[in-house]
Parts: sequence; structure tokens; C-alpha cells
Amino acid sequence: MLNQLREAAAYIQAHSDNFLPETGIILGTGLGALAREVEVEHEINYADIPHFPLSTVESHAGRLLLGRMAGKKVAVLQGRFHYYEGYTMQQVAMPVRVLKLLGISQLVVSNAAGGLNPDFNMADLMLIDDHINLQPGNPLIGANLDELGPRFPDMFAPYDAGLLARAEAAARALGQAGTTRRGVYASVPGPMLETPAEYRYLRTIGADAVGMSTVPEVIAARHLNLPVLAVSVITDLCAPGHLKPVVLADIFAAAAQAEPRLTALVKAVVAEL
Ligand code: HPA
Repeated sequence: MLNQLREAAAYIQAHSDNFLPETGIILGTGLGALAREVEVEHEINYADIPHFPLSTVESHAGRLLLGRMAGKKVAVLQGRFHYYEGYTMQQVAMPVRVLKLLGISQLVVSNAAGGLNPDFNMADLMLIDDHINLQPGNPLIGANLDELGPRFPDMFAPYDAGLLARAEAAARALGQAGTTRRGVYASVPGPMLETPAEYRYLRTIGADAVGMSTVPEVIAARHLNLPVLAVSVITDLCAPGHLKPVVLADIFAAAAQAEPRLTALVKAVVAEL
């Protein structure tokens, strides 16, 4: 496993003039346009990176971009891997680990999520301040990779308080305070959406939003001791009274509506790193 991670990292270095990213960014469903803010210096297809899984979701591009955003060196994963695609959790987390080997010192993650908190509106952003892992496993199962991190990583503060504070300050400065929330993200395997009873259950156990990604990547990042900022775009409303059949096109429309705000927010946070 460690050798595979090192081979992937070595390939990327060899094909990017040893570009050393400072911040890793994972783009979620329908949120690929953030990549337009990157002055791309190197572009590498996942298919060319040794041992890298391939994205099977149409809305995910499957490219690694290396370049600058707001003057800072970033590595942007345009397309992520989900458990529901059939990958192991180790594969889902692999890009995070490879970026760490390339030298990133923080990770920014985005996703599309269903809103469970009745105060949320379509296309709101939610800064994730805690999570509930309902995925059937996690990337730390198996022999611990001691070179990467400890056997029993602490999860007292999975989302970095400093990055959260910066994101909230940036939201205020950008006039986005009214559409930028904070809350708990529940990660489920999918790929089906939830039943009404499941949405009620998720709300009851303390979740503000639900999605099918992010938490495996965050667990791997915390194992690596990487500070994480994670942002959900609320693409459908799942609180009782709001619930209706989910149409994928509506999810993309909401993601597209939120995209400029997400992009401005991430850019503002990255600029200060
Ligand atoms: N449930 C799970 N995942 C999601 C949802 C949802 O309602 N919306 C976007 N991703």
C-alpha cells in the first residue's frame, strides 16, 4: 500500500517539475467549476497515475490539476471516488494520502448534500464542523500504516477550528453570512437517496446534512494529521414538509447556483493560508 502511494506520488512529481502543492482541494458533485479559478501549471489524468482509481461518476472529471489559486500552490482533485462505485475505502482515501506525500499541509473538501436542518435553504453552503460516519467501514481498517499516522487517531476536532473561523470570516466579508451555515454531516454509503424515515432518523441522531462522501477522506486526512476544511452545498431539502422526489438535475442546478459562492469562499480562505 505504502509503495503504491509512493509510486503514485513519484509519478506526479516526475510529470509536474516537482511541483509542491501546499493545499489539496477535492471537488464534489457538480462543483468542478472551482477549477476555473486555478492557474493550471500541470494537468494529470487519473488514468495515467499508477495505482490511482478511475472515477466512474459522470459528473466527476478524473483529473489532477496542479497550479495556483489566489497565488497559493494547490493540488485540485477534479473528481473523487465513492464507496458506492465499488472501491475499497483504501482506494477512496488514496488521493488524500498521495497529496500528503506530495507535501500538502491542509485539505479543503467540498460535496453536495441533502439538507436535514429545517432552517436550511436550497444552495446554502454548510461548513462542516463535525460528522457522523455511517459508511460501512473506513480507510484505517487493516494493518496500520505507521509511516502515515497512529493506530488510534483522535477525532475530538476533525474539522480545523482555525480554518472554520477563517471560512466564517470570509463568508461575512463576501456578504455570504446569510447563506453560509455550520453543521454536522452524516456520511452514508448510497447510492440510493434516503427514505423519509431515514431522513427523520438522520435528523434525530444529530445530522444537519447527509451525503455519500467526504468522511472517509477526512478520516484519512486526520490520520495524516492534516487540518481539514469541508463545505457542503445543500442541493435538496430533506426536512419533513420539504421532502419531494429528488431529481438529479435539480441537485446539479442547486450545485451550479451555489458554485460562485463556494468558489469565492474557498479562494478567500486559500488566499490567507
Ligand atoms: N442524500 C444523500 N446524498 C445526497 C443527498 C441526499 O439527500 N443530496 C445530495 N447528496
